[in-house]
Amino acid sequence: MSKMKKARDFQFQEEAKSRLAAEQEGQTFADDYENPAYKINASVKSKQELLDQNIILSVRNLKQHFKLGRGLSKIRLKAVSNISFDVKEGECFGIVGESGCGKTTTGRSIIRLYNITSGSIYYKGYRISAGSRWNQKEIKFTKLRLKEKTEELNKKMNDEIALLNKETADNQKLIGEIKNRYQAEIAVLEKQSQEIINEQNKKISQIKYDHKHVNRKLMNEIQMIFQDPIDSLDPRMTVADIIQEGLIVQGKRNKRENHRKVVEMLNKVGLVEDHASRYPHEFSGGQRQRIGIARALIMNPKLLICDEPISALDVSIRAQVINLLNDLKEEYGLTILFIAHDLSVVKYFCDRIAVMYFGKIVELTTSDALFKNPLHPYTQSLLSAIPKPDPISEKVRIRQPYNPGMHDYTVDTPQLREIVEGHFVYCNEKEFAEYQKNYKA
Ligand SMILES: Nc1ncnc2c1ncn2[C@@H]1O[C@H](COP(=O)(O)OP(=O)(O)OP(=O)(O)O)[C@@H](O)[C@H]1O
Ligand SMILES: [Mg+2]
Repeated sequence: MSKMKKARDFQFQEEAKSRLAAEQEGQTFADDYENPAYKINASVKSKQELLDQNIILSVRNLKQHFKLGRGLSKIRLKAVSNISFDVKEGECFGIVGESGCGKTTTGRSIIRLYNITSGSIYYKGYRISAGSRWNQKEIKFTKLRLKEKTEELNKKMNDEIALLNKETADNQKLIGEIKNRYQAEIAVLEKQSQEIINEQNKKISQIKYDHKHVNRKLMNEIQMIFQDPIDSLDPRMTVADIIQEGLIVQGKRNKRENHRKVVEMLNKVGLVEDHASRYPHEFSGGQRQRIGIARALIMNPKLLICDEPISALDVSIRAQVINLLNDLKEEYGLTILFIAHDLSVVKYFCDRIAVMYFGKIVELTTSDALFKNPLHPYTQSLLSAIPKPDPISEKVRIRQPYNPGMHDYTVDTPQLREIVEGHFVYCNEKEFAEYQKNYKA
C-alpha cells in the first residue's frame, strides 16, 4: 500500500472515530452534505477589511516561479510575476491572455495545487496560501546591505585615522574617539538590520503556520473546472466515481446519499442517471466538460474557477456550456473566475476582466470599459483579433500586432496604475499621463 493511501485511510479512520464519538454525544450530521461548519483557527492571518468590502477572493502580489533543469542549465521560469486582484462575492471575473501567459498557473495557485513562490491569497478574509521567497530575499539583502555599509564605515574610519598627525600627544585619545564614533554608528545599523530580520522571520513563521493550518472545509468551497476535459478525467473510473470522489475524500461515505447527489448533479448539467455507470471515453467533448462541471458542483462551491471551459469545444456546444454556467451561477449564487484566451468569450459573461501578458496583469477594468476604452496596446491587439460576423467589415479588419519593445522601461519603471476609477493599466509615468489625457469619458 502506498504511503499516501495509508495516510488517507488513517485520516478516514480518525474522522470516522471522531464522528462516531460526536454522534454518541447526540450531535447529528444530517445536514453535513449541505452545511459545512468551519472551525477556523484564530491564529491564521486574516483581513477583516476584505470581508467588509465583500471581497471573497484577494490575490496579493502573487508570484509563481518554476525551477527547471539542473546544474549549470538550471533556470527559474517566472510563470506569474507579481499579480494582484480582488474578486467580489457574486461577481464573474475574467482572466484573458495568450497561451502560456500564466492563467492556469494563477488558477492552480488559488486552489493550492502549487506552493506559491511569494505573495498571499485570501479567501473570505482568511489567508489560504502564501509564499516566503520575498521575505527570504529581504533577509538576504538586509544582511548584504549591512555587510557593505559596515565595510564602507570601517574604511572611512581607517582613512580618518590615517590622516591624523601621529606626532601629537593626544593621538591615541583621538583614535579612540574616532573608533567609538564609527562603532556606535555600526551598532545602530546592526540593530536596525536585526529588527528587519526579526520581523521578516516572524512573517515567514506565520506563512508556514497558515500553510499548515489551512481550513479544509473553507478550501472545499473553491472548486476548479480544469482546462482539458479529456485529460482531467481518469479513464479507469466511472463517471459516478469521478463525480463523487471529492465527497469520499471529505470522508462522506454514505453510498446511497452519494449516489443521490451524483444523480442530482448529472441532471443539473444536462446528463442522465444512466450516464453514471459509464466511462469518460464514452462521452463527447461537451459531455465530458459537463462531467467536469458536475464534479466541481457536487462540492457545493462558492467560488468556481473555470479554466477555459469552452476552448476545446465546438462552437455550437460552447453556447450550451456558457448558458449552463450562467444558470448555475444564478441558482447557486456562485462567484466565478473565468479563464479564457480570447476576449469575445468573456465579453458578455464577465463583469470585470484582467488582461494578462507574460505573467503580468497589463489591464484590469469592467468589461464595458475594456471594450469601450482599451488602453494597453496588448488589449487593443487582442480586440483587433476578434472576428466580426459581418463578411464586408471582416474583409477589411486590420489585425493590430503587439510589440512589447515599443515601451521604454529602462529608466521610468512600470507598475499597475489607476487611470480613472477602477481602470488599471500597467504603465510608467509618461504612459500614465498619456492614457489619462486620451481617456474617452
Ligand atoms: N508545472 C510546471 N512546471 C514548469 N513550468 C510550468 C508548469 N506549469 C506551467 N509552466 C509554465 O508556466 C507558463 C505559464 O503556463 P500556464 O499553463 O499558466 O499558461 P496558460 O496561460 O494557462 O496557457 P494556455 O492558454 O495555453 O492554457 C508556461 O510557460 C508554462 O510552460
Ligand atoms: Mg491554461
